Amino acid sequence: MDSVGSTSWHHRHLGAFQSLNQRLIESGIARPTIMIVGPGGVTRLAAPLLNDSARSGVSHLRKLVGDAARYGDQLLRRIPVMPLRSLEPVEVSRALSMEHDLIVVDRSCRVLAAVSRDLPRSTGRCVDIGASPIGATADVVIAFNVVCRVEEASATDAMRHVAEAVRPGGFLLMDDRSARLRLGAHPEFTPVGPKTYRRSDAAAP
Ligand SMILES: C[S@@+](CC[C@H](N)C(=O)[O-])C[C@H]1O[C@@H](n2cnc3c(N)ncnc32)[C@H](O)[C@@H]1O
Repeated sequence: MDSVGSTSWHHRHLGAFQSLNQRLIESGIARPTIMIVGPGGVTRLAAPLLNDSARSGVSHLRKLVGDAARYGDQLLRRIPVMPLRSLEPVEVSRALSMEHDLIVVDRSCRVLAAVSRDLPRSTGRCVDIGASPIGATADVVIAFNVVCRVEEASATDAMRHVAEAVRPGGFLLMDDRSARLRLGAHPEFTPVGPKTYRRSDAAAP
């Protein structure tokens, strides 16, 4: 069974992606490679009904509909033939103003199939980060709400595999919980903004 975690509403990480765009402009990296680890998926059926952080002035009733869609989606996603959408890759691509290459990593082949439908030029890698290295590197690695979900026995390896995927001088975007639990073992990363860490320039020994 290919269980799928979810990005439960639209534009959940929009602020982080907009700040990333500014950082990439300032750092002058030409055509950066962006890697998203564990973007999640929602069913195409529920996607239009989910809440959207980018919308303001939304009515109470609309929010209730969004919450109901989120819970309904948890059940619908379990049906293997349900087509999915993966919100994060599309939202990152739209937030970046420069040309970039996109690699998407997930242990769910259904999530990767959804990404390649919407972003056919992206590269998908079907990897369980708790079990195997990712096998690619990027200027930016985005790993929101993934490492903290990996079972305890393989979480340290998962964090190492994510950390190794960040090129020297590159950025890691990660949720606070994963960072608090696992990033302390990686002193090569320094916080440079909310949920954003930069890897030191020195290549790992
Ligand atoms: C909770 S969702 C997070 C979705 C999104 N990044 C967010 O912040 O809302 C977790 C995602 O990580 C993936 N995932 C979970 N464990 C994984 C593992 N060990 N290796 C690779 N992907 C994994 C799931 O398939 C899912 O796409």
